[in-house]
Amino acid sequence: MELNSIGVIGAGAMGSGIAQVSAAAGYNVTLQDVSGDALERAGASIRKSLGRLAGKGKLTEAEMEAALGRIRFTTALESACTDADLVVEAVFENLDLKHDIFGKLDRLCRKEAVLGTNTSTISITEIASVTGRGDKIIGIHFMNPVPLMKGVEVIRGELTADATAETAVAFVRRLGKEPIMAVDYAGFIASRLVDVLFNEVMKLIQEGNKPEEIDKICTLCLGHPMGPCRLLDLAGADIAMHGMETMARDFGDAYKPHPLLKRRVLAGLLGQKTGRGFYTY
Ligand SMILES: NC(=O)c1ccc[n+]([C@@H]2O[C@H](COP(=O)([O-])OP(=O)(O)OC[C@H]3O[C@@H](n4cnc5c(N)ncnc54)[C@H](O)[C@@H]3O)[C@@H](O)[C@H]2O)c1
Repeated sequence: MELNSIGVIGAGAMGSGIAQVSAAAGYNVTLQDVSGDALERAGASIRKSLGRLAGKGKLTEAEMEAALGRIRFTTALESACTDADLVVEAVFENLDLKHDIFGKLDRLCRKEAVLGTNTSTISITEIASVTGRGDKIIGIHFMNPVPLMKGVEVIRGELTADATAETAVAFVRRLGKEPIMAVDYAGFIASRLVDVLFNEVMKLIQEGNKPEEIDKICTLCLGHPMGPCRLLDLAGADIAMHGMETMARDFGDAYKPHPLLKRRVLAGLLGQKTGRGFYTY
C-alpha cells in the first residue's frame, strides 16, 4: 500500500522521534497528543534534533525547514486519523490506554488504514483485540532515540495480513532503517532482553554496586555502546517497570519488576525526562 499521510499518536520521546523521521522521509505527518505542552516540547525537540543533523551535514537547512513544514501538531485525535494511511500509536505503555486509543482509531480511521503500535512489550494481538481490523494491526517498535537508531522491530499479531506486514516493512525501509521481524509474545526480542538487564541492574545496585561501575563494566568489558544505567535513564524507569509488569503477567514471577525499580519510579527518578535518574540532566 502506498503511504502519504502518517498519524502519530502521543508526542513524547518516541512519538516526536517517529514524527521527525517520517517527515524527513517526505511523509505528511500529523502528531497528536492530549497535552498541548507535550506538543510544544515535541516541536522544540524535533527542531533541535533536525538542527543537530543539519549541523553534521546530514541534511540541508532547506530540507530541515521542509521536514518541519510537513508536521502538523494537534490535540484532536480525529485530525490525526481522517487522512492517515498509517497511524503509529506511541502513548504511555498501558494496556487500558492503548485499548481505548485503538477502539477510537478503529472508528475514526479509513477502513484501509494500517494501525501500528510502538509498544515495547504488549502483545500486538492483545492490542488488536478491541478492533474489528486485526488484519491491519501491526507492531512497529522503534528504538530510542528514534532518529539515531537503525533497527526497528516489526511484529505481526495473530491476524495481521501479509499486505500489512509488507506496508510496515516498506515504511521502515523508506525511513532509512532496518526492519527486523520478531514474534508476538510479550516483550518481543528487544524488551525481553533489555528490561531483564535493567531489572538485574537493580539487584546489583541493592547489593552495593555503583551505577558508574556497572556502566563501565558494560562499556569497557562487555563492549556495549552505552551502559545500562545510562540507557535506563534514556528509556525511562517507568517504561522499563511497565515492560516488566507486562512480561510478568505472561511469563511469571521471574519477570516481576524489582522493588527498587518500583521505588525509583514512585520517587520520580525516571531519568532524562524528569531530569534525574542514576545521573542528573
Ligand atoms: N522510551 C523508550 O525508550 C521507548 C522505546 C521503545 C518503545 N517505547 C514505547 O513507546 C511508547 C511511548 O513511550 P515514550 O517513552 O515516548 O513515552 P512518553 O512518556 O515520553 O510519552 C507518552 C506521550 O503519550 C501522551 N498521551 C497519553 N495519553 C494520551 C492519549 N490518550 N492520547 C494521546 N496522547 C496521549 C502523553 O501526553 C505523552 O506525551 C510506549 O508504548 C513505550 O513502551 C518507548
